[in-house]
Amino acid sequence: MRSAWFSLPSLPRHKRVQPVLYALVTLLSLLCSVSLYAVYALLHDRSAASFPIFSSRTITAQQLLDAYHPLDNAEQLESRLNHTCRVTLPDTEQLTRFRKLYPSLSRFIMYFNVHLLLEEHTKHVLPSQPLQALQLGGSFSVFQNFEDKLNISETQYPQVDIHRTNLPSNSYDIIGADQVIEHVLFPQLAIMEIHRLLRPDGIAILTTCAYNPVHGKTAFLDFWRFMRDGLMVLSLPFRGGVLQCGTWGTSKMVSTRAKYYYNSSYEKKLFGEMFESEVRVNDLDNPFQSWIVLRK
Ligand SMILES: *[C@@H]1O[C@H](CO)[C@@H](O)[C@H](O)[C@H]1NC(C)=O
Ligand SMILES: *[C@@H]1O[C@H](CO)[C@@H](O)[C@H](O)[C@H]1NC(C)=O
Ligand SMILES: *[C@@H]1O[C@H](CO)[C@@H](O)[C@H](O)[C@H]1NC(C)=O
Repeated sequence: MRSAWFSLPSLPRHKRVQPVLYALVTLLSLLCSVSLYAVYALLHDRSAASFPIFSSRTITAQQLLDAYHPLDNAEQLESRLNHTCRVTLPDTEQLTRFRKLYPSLSRFIMYFNVHLLLEEHTKHVLPSQPLQALQLGGSFSVFQNFEDKLNISETQYPQVDIHRTNLPSNSYDIIGADQVIEHVLFPQLAIMEIHRLLRPDGIAILTTCAYNPVHGKTAFLDFWRFMRDGLMVLSLPFRGGVLQCGTWGTSKMVSTRAKYYYNSSYEKKLFGEMFESEVRVNDLDNPFQSWIVLRK
């Protein structure tokens, strides 16, 4: 049997046009997919060279030497390491109320504690005179339930190099960086920069992970994990002290994340089932999240 292509000339005119149209449509769709992928690849350039830190060359060795000075401050470091972190676990009423606001098991206790602090901190703030707030990139805004008390500006990371922004010094009452510092090449420099941007007495809220599988690969690099004591070392430039600190995790929750991270719907299901029991405990030897709130 002869193929349809060879029988074309004998077909009526309108039937001859059809295969050509199909071929054209196929070609066009192919072209569209290729250009869409090109745009996607441009927007998600994940090579190290796409990081501002590698192209801007704004960091000098002296800045690093100035920043990493824990041994010059041995006594202050000792007293920071002596600091007791108090993590509040929710009662039944709080659990119901806050679960709606912060439904993720892995971050619930952390956001709940930061929420309590922000509630206290903004208690006397009038909506007509909001605090000036800066949110540095991140996956979530710790300010999201305080929009009536805060005038929030945002910078995106990694688009903006948060080791050294162009923002003016002493300009914010409060800065939040949610799940950012583990993705920053030199966390101590980023923290010095946050310190520079804050007004005297301003506060910084840094939330990050103590454990997590490698993440963020499609958009940025993943450099660090933070223990409580590491956050204390980072806290040294903040002479106003530690307003809140903590870690939260349980061995069951951490091992579930490790096992099912790449099967996220199943992980979500398991986290949903273990939510109520796990958020009632905090296993300090198996931290998952860590956070610190510092005063300039
Ligand atoms: C830290 O705690 C230890 C043990 O309680 C104490 O001996 C020491 O003086 C404390 N250091 C500072 C700087 O507070
Ligand atoms: C909010 O922030 C913007 C940008 O920094 C500023 O121009 C504006 O005056 C602020 N508004 C209030 C009410 O503080
Ligand atoms: C995800 O986990 C469930 C439960 O263990 C399993 O049935 C399913 O096959 C897993 N899916 C993948 C893609 O691994």
